[in-house]
Amino acid sequence: MLAPAMSVRPSLGHGVGLRLTHYDRILAPGADGSDGSLAGDLGVELVEVVTENFFGPGGTVPGGRPRAVLERVRAQVPVALHGVSLGVGSVDPPPEEYLRALRTVVDWIEPAIVSDHLCWGSVGGHYAHDLLPLPYREDAIAVAVDNVGRAQDALGRRILLENVSSYAAIGGGTMPEWEFLMEVARRADCLVLLDINNIVVNAKNHGFDALDYLAGVDGDRVWQFHLAGHTDRGAYKFDDHVGPVPDEVWSLYEAAVARFGEVASIVEWDQEVPPWEVLRAQAERARDLAAALVGGEA
Ligand SMILES: [Fe+2]
Repeated sequence: MLAPAMSVRPSLGHGVGLRLTHYDRILAPGADGSDGSLAGDLGVELVEVVTENFFGPGGTVPGGRPRAVLERVRAQVPVALHGVSLGVGSVDPPPEEYLRALRTVVDWIEPAIVSDHLCWGSVGGHYAHDLLPLPYREDAIAVAVDNVGRAQDALGRRILLENVSSYAAIGGGTMPEWEFLMEVARRADCLVLLDINNIVVNAKNHGFDALDYLAGVDGDRVWQFHLAGHTDRGAYKFDDHVGPVPDEVWSLYEAAVARFGEVASIVEWDQEVPPWEVLRAQAERARDLAAALVGGEA
C-alpha cells in the first residue's frame, strides 16, 4: 500500500519532451560536458521521454542509442516518464508484462515523474494505438480507479494522469470533464498532469470555458503541466502538437500558474520537430512567465 497522504509537489522546473530527432544532439561528442564545454548543458531543468520508447526486449533495460541517450540525459537533469499505453480507462486491466516493463524502466532511471493518460485504448487484447476519450460516467471512473491502483501498486509510487484532447462526447456522461478527472484522481489517490493545450482544444471542441476547467481542479494534485501547439480548423481545434505554443495556450498557462502556483512544465512538439535549442527557448518562456507570476527570479 502507498502512504495515504500526498507528498508536497516537488519543484522540478521547466523542460521539453525529448524526441528521436534530438538523439544526435544528446550523443554528440562532449555533449555530456566531458570536454568542459557548455554543450554538456541541456539548457533545461527537466526532460520528458515517452516511456515505451525505452522498453527493452522482453521488458528489459534497452541497449544501444536509447540507453545511451537516456542515461546521458538522466546524468544531467530529472526525467519525467510519460507513457502512452497504460490505458487506465480500458475495461481490461493493464497486462502484467506491461507493468513489469514499466517497473524495469522506473527502477533503472529513477524518474521524478511517471505519467500516462486518462483514456482507453484497447479491448480484448486489441490495441487502437490512440488515446481515446472516456464517457464521463461512474462506471468509467470505477474502471480507471481500479487500473490506476494496479499500476501504482506495481510501481510502489503514485502516477500522474493526463487529460486528453477529444473531438466528440461519447457514452452519454453528464459530468464536466474536469469533475471526471478529479474524481478519478481523488479516489485512486493519484496525481494530475494538466495539459493546458488540451484544455484549450477541448474548450473549443466541446463549448466550455477553459477557466471553468481550472476552477474545478484541485491544485494540490497537479504536479505537471504540458504545453503544446494545435491547429485551429475553424469549426474545431486539432491537437497536432505542431509549432510553438500559441498565445491562447500561454494565456491559460498564466491563469493556471496564478491559480496553482509554479508547476513543472514540459513543452511537447511532435510534428516538424525543431532543433533542441528552439524547444529549449519555449521552456525558458514557461519558466520566465512562472517566475514573473510567483515572484521568483527569471
Ligand atoms: Fe500532453
